[in-house]
Amino acid sequence: MTSPLLPVFARAELSFEKGEGPWLYGRDGQRYLDFGAGIAVNALGHAHPHLVEALTEQASKLWHSSNLFQIPEGERLAQRLVDHTFADVVFFTNSGAEANEAAIKMARKYHHANGHPERFRIITFEGAFHGRTLATIAAGGQAKYIEGFGPKVEGFDQVPVNDLEALKAAIGPETAALMIEPIQGEGGVRSVDNAFLKQLRALCDQHGLMLIFDEIQTGVGRTGKLFAYEWTGVTPDIMAVAKGIGGGFPMGACLATREAAIGMTAGSHGTTFGGNPLAMAVGNAVLDVILAPGFLKEVERKGLLLKQRLAELKDRHSSIIAEVRGFGLMMGLRTVVPNTDFVAAARDQKMIVIGAGDNVVRLLPPLIISDEDISEAFNRLDAACAAMEAELKTKTQPGAA
Ligand SMILES: Cc1ncc(COP(=O)(O)O)c(C=O)c1O
Repeated sequence: MTSPLLPVFARAELSFEKGEGPWLYGRDGQRYLDFGAGIAVNALGHAHPHLVEALTEQASKLWHSSNLFQIPEGERLAQRLVDHTFADVVFFTNSGAEANEAAIKMARKYHHANGHPERFRIITFEGAFHGRTLATIAAGGQAKYIEGFGPKVEGFDQVPVNDLEALKAAIGPETAALMIEPIQGEGGVRSVDNAFLKQLRALCDQHGLMLIFDEIQTGVGRTGKLFAYEWTGVTPDIMAVAKGIGGGFPMGACLATREAAIGMTAGSHGTTFGGNPLAMAVGNAVLDVILAPGFLKEVERKGLLLKQRLAELKDRHSSIIAEVRGFGLMMGLRTVVPNTDFVAAARDQKMIVIGAGDNVVRLLPPLIISDEDISEAFNRLDAACAAMEAELKTKTQPGAA
């Protein structure tokens, strides 16, 4: 049967009917260990009781009122984000791409408000992924996402990560901002050198540029801090957040200093749904858990445990795994075999992992993952690797087709 859905996704032949913690229950009757978390979204796993309670309680009171009115739940969430970050102000969105759009618009408007409308260009980095809107595909710079959609949105220049000279050469009189993921997610769990991030900050200060961090994948506890920038000693002017902040409820946010947001006056930007009471109730509930004493320390500890186990896995299966990458509970395995084969082999062992660029497989478990489930993940991945090795052997045997 032909699906009525626009065929833009190559979907696996698998669907789920419920989830609990790090487990997904397939309609095939099988239970899957979820190390994808909906691509770093289900930060607290599935059906977390505190989130379910917050959502259902809010659902019985008020879903939506529009941004024409005060939304106290949103004021509260914004204040909590401000209290725990560099930021002074928050704009809520429905997705990551929209959070980045807000960030891009804000950076351009900052210069406009300061009498420099000619400063609109944003420097981004090779391998980046910032979303699928017209501006964010231009920011990401990947031809496969840009081609066929008309003229590329003007004003994005791209340079390699960790290449200071290329970056310096790209900064011109029209440059408004630098935009970077502290760890590239879709690009293949690729870390950016801390020293390079520091140089980015210094260049921004020197040239009066906005520094935008895209923490859509790295944020909300994923690396063991509320936001990854806290590890780096570098503070952005503007930061895009999404994915984990809603724990599965679609929402995002653009955070900024008051100075960076100077051009964003009444009427300059907007959204119908962004920051609605349902999303805000869930966002607050996510923070209740993530900001509880000790939670992030546990993420950090479990991240180290996972990294250790993955290093062991690589040692056991060097014909399958070339490299272990990542930080906290945002880990990647660069594979020797095609990463799609690895994802499929893991699925055969009833475990969900996610492909990324650079032939990497991402492991993004919910932050509530237990030590036992990390061990279980190791066993399943070990079995997946053994199955792939057996297959490689049959392929390389003399006489094999
Ligand atoms: C770093 C980063 N930026 C932006 C996006 C886009 O977010 P969304 O798909 O919610 O628009 C993603 C999604 O994968 C991402 O990982």
